[in-house]
Amino acid sequence: MNLLDYPRWPSLARESILNIPVDLRSRRVTIQGRTIDYGEDVDSVVITGMGGSGVVGDIIGDLCWFWGCGKPIIVSKGMRLPRALSKPLVIAISYSGNTAETIASAREALNRGFPTIGITTGGKLAQFLNELGAPVIIIPKASAPRYGLPALLYPALVILERFGVMNVASELESGIVGMEKAVKSLEEAQGIARRIVNTVPVIWVTESRRGVGIRFKNDLNENTKYYAIVSVIPEGAHNDIAAVMGKQQGLSHVFIYGEGDYEARYLETLMEVVKSYGKEAITVKLSGGTPLESEMFGVAFLGLVTLALAEMTGTEPVGTEPIDKLKRLLDERKVIT
Ligand code: F6R
Repeated sequence: MNLLDYPRWPSLARESILNIPVDLRSRRVTIQGRTIDYGEDVDSVVITGMGGSGVVGDIIGDLCWFWGCGKPIIVSKGMRLPRALSKPLVIAISYSGNTAETIASAREALNRGFPTIGITTGGKLAQFLNELGAPVIIIPKASAPRYGLPALLYPALVILERFGVMNVASELESGIVGMEKAVKSLEEAQGIARRIVNTVPVIWVTESRRGVGIRFKNDLNENTKYYAIVSVIPEGAHNDIAAVMGKQQGLSHVFIYGEGDYEARYLETLMEVVKSYGKEAITVKLSGGTPLESEMFGVAFLGLVTLALAEMTGTEPVGTEPIDKLKRLLDERKVIT
């Protein structure tokens, strides 16, 4: 089976943090006569990006449940930033650097006087941030944005450490251990793939693993060309679960959680209810000695499940033509300005 960039994830993580400017906190950017000082305290962090880049925000959101991040993390996946922001740090992530939503958000952030940092392989995002003297971290390339996840995530973690939002430096290596473990668990990943082939997976996750659930859904969409649904508990226990009584065919139920997760017993209890309606429960336990290790194990392992599924169904995993087509049309029509 072709594992694409997964065996390279450890080196993508390590290489990506080498390019973080040492003078990050002493930067000053002047726009229309107004100076943005990167050394000042921030009161929140906005992580903006789409798809395979935007999921970095969701993953950091998960980690904050374990680490107790010092500032609120706001995940923004859109063309505009939230209206009510006071003194945020804005991290704009776009693998290609050409995603219009992310470029528009980064421009807006700087125009509103917020310190803004780009993470990208280049493109228009790198160009306009460079022109303004704003920091940009240029990361190594992969076969497609989603396969470069560690290169998008690790610089964001280091930035948050530098801005005093979280202490993560001592955990970075453990995340790499999680990635390596996932590649070694390929047979297990293929086993899960066999159980969800030709179904619409319902992905049940705890609140603190929302990012893993979203990433799995996105990988199913993009690698396997499958629809999938994410149900985050406890909220999903108050609506989605009612559907297990129905006659709808062709769903599978995947339960993702870490043993030590605050909500683990809740998810196990919900699983019992799903099973009591005759549905098969497929469980994926996220193992690891640290939150980052279990999170990285989860996203890599589930990514491999989707590659195994692609192979089983004779699907070419890399190409995402409908996304490219839409981006072209949005550009031609200047929908996002
Ligand atoms: C394709 C993929 C997409 C892109 C998204 C945003 O591999 O993962 O979800 O990530 O279209 O593009 P970028 O990441 O270049 O900003």
